[in-house]
Amino acid sequence: MRIVLLGAPGSGKGTQCKSLVEKYGLLHMSSGDILRKERAAKSELGQKAQSYMDSGALVPDDLIIEMMSKAIKEAPKSGFILDGFPRTVNQAIELDKAMADAGMKIDFVLNLEVDDSIIEKRITGRRSCPKCGAVYHIENMKPKQDGICDNDETELVQRADDTAEVVAKRLDNYHQQTEPLVDYYKKNGNVYDLRSDRDPEIVKEDIFKILDF
Ligand code: AP5
Repeated sequence: MRIVLLGAPGSGKGTQCKSLVEKYGLLHMSSGDILRKERAAKSELGQKAQSYMDSGALVPDDLIIEMMSKAIKEAPKSGFILDGFPRTVNQAIELDKAMADAGMKIDFVLNLEVDDSIIEKRITGRRSCPKCGAVYHIENMKPKQDGICDNDETELVQRADDTAEVVAKRLDNYHQQTEPLVDYYKKNGNVYDLRSDRDPEIVKEDIFKILDF
């Protein structure tokens, strides 16, 4: 099963991916996580991406397409979830080509919908584990012990781009450059819209119903 997960920053893509990985054994391919690893490793790509990410801008298509085409070539044919890629129509066209070259297709496009008004609170309250990637929220998804990851007891961190100012820019970019992808994929008839302003467990069950049908 190959899935594209669409949604604004803070719509819950990373949160839902965790359940999909656990239930279906899919590989989670998050372009944001790959970029953050490149930054931590101080690679050439990571250094080029840094200023775009910190300001809330999209990293240029050529860098992302090269990075994700490589990841897709190495991905197991059995299944994966793309989280955060594609993010522009140009990236979607290149993804279609990479999939066709590999003899694969996207089976499901899941579109998480949340109003902008609740996104800022979600993102500025997010804390994540730098070791295992687990995602928490200081109010509505607290770890058992304040500031500490439940899985590996690592100290939780706040992402540099999770400030109110940068979130506003990321949301603008989402509406201008990424939202048109919903129509792009609707032509193929495999897009499923899900309200993601509900309890994450309920969103998860709705996703499972779609995938298990
Ligand atoms: P990326 O890392 O992909 O960030 P994003 O898309 O902005 O998404 P987020 O990770 O912020 O949110 P999410 O939807 O995963 O929400 P989460 O589950 O954590 O990209 C970062 C940057 O990298 C970009 O700005 C860009 O510069 C660059 N980049 C990446 N890909 C690129 C590409 N393809 N092209 C160009 N540039 C690219 O949830 C958020 C919070 O809400 C958490 O605290 C969570 O606990 C809480 N929450 C989740 N669901 C619920 C719920 N149902 N109810 C209540 N709270 C919830």
